Amino acid sequence: MTSDALVTTPDLTATSTTPVHAAGAPGAEWWRHAVIYQIYPRSFADASGDGIGDLPGITARLDHLAALGVDAVWLSPFYTSPQADAGYDVADYRDVDPLFGTLADFDALLERAHGLGLRVIVDLVPNHTSDEHAWFRAAMAAGPGSAERERYMFREGAGEDGSLPPNNWTSVFGGPAWTRVEDGQWYLHLFDTRQPDLNWEHPEVRSEFEAVLRFWLDKGVDGFRIDVAHGMVKEQGLPDWDGTVAMVEGTEEAPGDHGDADAVADQDGAGASTGAGNRGPMFDQEGVHEIYRAWNRVLATYDGDRALVAEAWVEPLTRLARYVRPDEMHQAFNFSYLTTRWDAAALRRVVTASLEASDGVGAPTTWVLSNHDVVRHTSRLGLADAGSRPKGIGHDDEQPDEALGLRRGRAATLLTLGLPGSAYLYQGEELGLPEHTALDDDLRQDPAWFRSGHAERGRDGCRVPLPWAAQRPGFGFSPTGATWLPQPASWAAYAADAQDGVPGSTLETYRTALRVRRELDLGTGSLAWVDGLEGADPSQVVALVNRDVLVVTNLGDTPVRLPAGVQVLVASAAVDADGETVLVPTDVTVWARTA
Ligand code: BGC
Repeated sequence: MTSDALVTTPDLTATSTTPVHAAGAPGAEWWRHAVIYQIYPRSFADASGDGIGDLPGITARLDHLAALGVDAVWLSPFYTSPQADAGYDVADYRDVDPLFGTLADFDALLERAHGLGLRVIVDLVPNHTSDEHAWFRAAMAAGPGSAERERYMFREGAGEDGSLPPNNWTSVFGGPAWTRVEDGQWYLHLFDTRQPDLNWEHPEVRSEFEAVLRFWLDKGVDGFRIDVAHGMVKEQGLPDWDGTVAMVEGTEEAPGDHGDADAVADQDGAGASTGAGNRGPMFDQEGVHEIYRAWNRVLATYDGDRALVAEAWVEPLTRLARYVRPDEMHQAFNFSYLTTRWDAAALRRVVTASLEASDGVGAPTTWVLSNHDVVRHTSRLGLADAGSRPKGIGHDDEQPDEALGLRRGRAATLLTLGLPGSAYLYQGEELGLPEHTALDDDLRQDPAWFRSGHAERGRDGCRVPLPWAAQRPGFGFSPTGATWLPQPASWAAYAADAQDGVPGSTLETYRTALRVRRELDLGTGSLAWVDGLEGADPSQVVALVNRDVLVVTNLGDTPVRLPAGVQVLVASAAVDADGETVLVPTDVTVWARTA
């Protein structure tokens, strides 16, 4: 029997529940419970035929997202850019790169999205500009000591002749965080050498970004995802730091990395978290918060409930919660959840810590499993160390077990969507796409691959163009069949049209889950942990009630019996059912109605 099984009334009396989060108000402030779908424009859909996705391609496929049942889309950068970091190096914050289309194409996209009831969030990249931004060009032309250089982080070098970098910071992508220019000065770049860091102590930098916010708000966008939100302000004096500057590609010791979210749950912030990029004089400085208070005030002058979303790799969660205090941003990505291994106790701990930390400031929790910076969760969960976070996967690395990863990936997704709060999906996960783990190294474009001296495979494997049509060249990504990165042949089976209308396909499972989540208001729901399900070893099962829905994820070897009489609403794979008995198999999540 499958997920459509209908059984009768629930009986949770044999079990005990522990409430950790009370229900929110349905309908209030859309972002509190929204499911937000990340579009990575160069890889979503190509209308022009050049093999690179574009805005008209997105507009033409918005129906897919409306039918999927998400509430909003977040667009990664499409602004004018030399593409040194796939658009996260912006040369003009108020225009569209010709690769992706025009401002008129953006307006058309926004209008179509709003017509379909989809909100639109755009990406803002304020920590750094492109080296082709007019300000940086002016700074280079004007020379040392000029007002133009003040907008960036130019410094004299160390050592007798200034030939050493001003301090010992390294770039997130590898190598030194400083580049020397011809006149002898150095400039700071926490990322690529083509991404110079701005000086956020400069009033003109602050006023310019407020004007950029207004430019897009005037167009009607519903919010902003703020890139490197924890990085803009640096400690005075730029002191040396001996830690490893790491963010998106993972650290040696992120708290979730041992299936141990203790550091995540650390409430006073004094624990031994060495997690994702939250330490060091370049990250999580007190001064960033004033910037977000100012931006909150800008958004408040617009109608329609606009939102700011922090991309802040900050731990513990109580520290992250400071970004979503009532007068700052509205949401922050929950990377502590993303980095937690496939381990029941660790998952329970990180969920509890997340809800408690965000409840503490009155903000919604968010949940995320995949994005354009990490190995896709279906592939992470197919590794021997399930849920670990390699910095990309190459052909000579351990290859994930694709079937196991998909099974666990779907279970992880259903657990995620069963939690109260807001959830982020990354394009292609609704198709169950794995990482491209055998990409030819010669085709890699991620600056992390080059700057790490080829030590990190980087992020290209999660950025491969989507397969829309199994039988078409390039799987229907573009009208010519061109794709800027090659797609694995095995992706025919994952194509959207191969899954559309097929019961039990990943696409249909996502659709059902999103429909049920919306109908039953799970996003604004409550959470109580459930103990004592028959056959459930607490070290191997995650079980919770959200409103009247029982969500059970079985990470163990023994099937878990659901209470008699529950009605299965959706399952991540076929469940075993015999009469009134429903058994949840290994690596499966089930939602069942308890009332
Ligand atoms: C983005 C990355 C980007 C980096 C620099 C990150 O947070 O998500 O894709 O490389 O910021 O802008």
